[in-house]
Amino acid sequence: MPNIAYVNGRFLPLEEATVSIEDRGFQFGDGVYEVIRVYGGLPFRLPEHLSRLVQSMQAVSISPFLDHEKWDAIIREGLQRSTYLECKVYIQVTRGVAPRDHLFPEVSNPTLVMTFREMADLPRHLVEQGVAVVTRPDLRWARCSIKSLNLLPNLLAKQEANQAGAFEAILIKDGLVTEGTSSNVVLVKGSALLTPPLSDQLLAGVTRQAVLELAKSNGIGVEERAVREEELGQADELFLIGTTIEVLSISTLNGKSVGIKAPGEMTIRLREKFHDLVYRKL
Ligand code: PDD
Repeated sequence: MPNIAYVNGRFLPLEEATVSIEDRGFQFGDGVYEVIRVYGGLPFRLPEHLSRLVQSMQAVSISPFLDHEKWDAIIREGLQRSTYLECKVYIQVTRGVAPRDHLFPEVSNPTLVMTFREMADLPRHLVEQGVAVVTRPDLRWARCSIKSLNLLPNLLAKQEANQAGAFEAILIKDGLVTEGTSSNVVLVKGSALLTPPLSDQLLAGVTRQAVLELAKSNGIGVEERAVREEELGQADELFLIGTTIEVLSISTLNGKSVGIKAPGEMTIRLREKFHDLVYRKL
């Protein structure tokens, strides 16, 4: 079967999958999501993604209605049906279908949607040359640690980046770096990494956690502290991290070259280590 979807208990071809126009996800963005990368048929850090999904649900008062085993079983069945070894699983949970009203319905029946799509490697030139980024004001709400469906400010900033010829926008709030529109940001200073600490201002990226662990276990220093916007321009290397981009070098920031060359040595090293990690279980 090609790309497939799961909607409230049923697997079906992606193009046949639908939800009601009264779904609160569609009408209000009233829901949360996850994106999980599958390498060689195995989801990367599934328990971490599921824990974050449950935390996001709880944070917006959608009661967890499945335990980890059940989530796991649905995802594994989807992978089996799709037959993809390299793919991306998207999970979306909304507060369900109800006549449009800002108040939560008295009884809500959450909608659960998943998609299973084949995932190609990132275009080689992005990996080999690095990507351009621009900085943009972070106009999002105060609870960005929740993986909410409300992505409009992220989309607007990403679109602006695209129009400026860049791959990603790095978001700045009160003079401090928060994250990318769909990625976390890491600076390399000398032989150590620097990245903003976890807070309500950014998503606790699963890739971020994995890369910081890899750095520590390889004797690379890691500092998690507030990062001022101007420090970006002084970094030896910059890179983005996230489920779909893995570890991706930044070559230019607002049109200016970053460091001596991109990808820098540390970025290349961590990207390789990350690949060793994700494929090790094969
Ligand atoms: N986004 N920050 C934001 C705002 C994100 O949307 C993402 C991921 C990340 C990286 O998190 P992780 O390493 O867990 O993927 C950071 C996904 C991929 C998306 O929205 O498609």
